[in-house]
Amino acid sequence: MHTRLLHNDPQGLATAAAMLRAGGLVAFGTETVYGLGADAGNDTAVAAIYTAKGRPGHNPLISHFASADAAFEQVEATPLARRLAERFWPGPLTMVLPRTARCGISAVATAGLPTAAVRVPAGQTTQALLAACGFPVVAPSANPSGRVSPSDAQHVLAGLDGRIDAVLDCGPCRVGVESTIIDLSRDVPVLLRPGGITLEALEAACGVMLALPAGSNDARPTAPGQLSSHYAPGLPVRLDAHSVAPDEALLAFGPPLPGSALVWNLSATGDLHEAAARLFAGLRFLDMEGHRRGLVGIAVQPVPGHGLGRAIRDRLIRAACPRP
Ligand code: TXA
Ligand code: MG
Repeated sequence: MHTRLLHNDPQGLATAAAMLRAGGLVAFGTETVYGLGADAGNDTAVAAIYTAKGRPGHNPLISHFASADAAFEQVEATPLARRLAERFWPGPLTMVLPRTARCGISAVATAGLPTAAVRVPAGQTTQALLAACGFPVVAPSANPSGRVSPSDAQHVLAGLDGRIDAVLDCGPCRVGVESTIIDLSRDVPVLLRPGGITLEALEAACGVMLALPAGSNDARPTAPGQLSSHYAPGLPVRLDAHSVAPDEALLAFGPPLPGSALVWNLSATGDLHEAAARLFAGLRFLDMEGHRRGLVGIAVQPVPGHGLGRAIRDRLIRAACPRP
């Protein structure tokens, strides 16, 4: 299959929407990461996403909408869900809610669960694409399953060229880590994945502390079907490094440790927003260049666990997990 690179102009947008409507797989940028899109109501198209990514079928997908009203046709909106939508949409928050009786999202996309994950992403092009489609678009991150998420169009092509119909170039992603996922389908709200909306902001909006899923600790929440090793570069990752060996690459945060010739600084000034936006590009760069230079691993300087640091640390911990 030839993968087309579509430009961010009216023609590119129209082509992307037409391809999605016809059951194709089109990657597009959101404010968080690039997603691999398909018509959420088309079983065959949704199944093709799992094949293209090599994703296990029990791991459900997020449906994307142009507006909260469109999302709440597919899932039961609780008062809290409406409040959070008002506060955070469009933006990097995903809510898990019960499917409505008339929900048109393919059961393949929700892995047969009685719930569906929904979000309204920000970004002019993303919004324009979803509005042009007029149907929900499922989109997991546009990377082969288990690998580092893409934060620009070239990252998508590096992993999926030849396996999908097109990539709509929406430029680099502003936030850089995936959406925060909150499960509102249970008695108490549960944080399934830390992400672009901080836990602090979410708890302030909810007015309660969020539960973390059973079996997880504070640093490592899990969503159903989420594998523990994820975001994995080829080189092994060593966390919370206080020194770096000459044969290691360095992912720095703040003033860089001395000793490595290959450094990517997430943020020289220790800014967590900048660090999130530079995280996946940095892991990709150090992996590729470190490999080329024969380095043995990537050492990561400590990143604080508050604010966006919680999502950054979550991704780094998974990147450092032993591979299956
Ligand atoms: O920022 C994002 O959320 C990006 C962009 C493209 O929107 N998407 C993304 O998708 O990160 P993905 O597939 O990489 O992660 C989706 C997560 C998975 O961990 C999955 O288990 C969880 O959402 N999920 C989806 N539906 C669910 C459900 N009904 N219940 C619980 N978790 C669900
Ligand atoms: Mg992903």
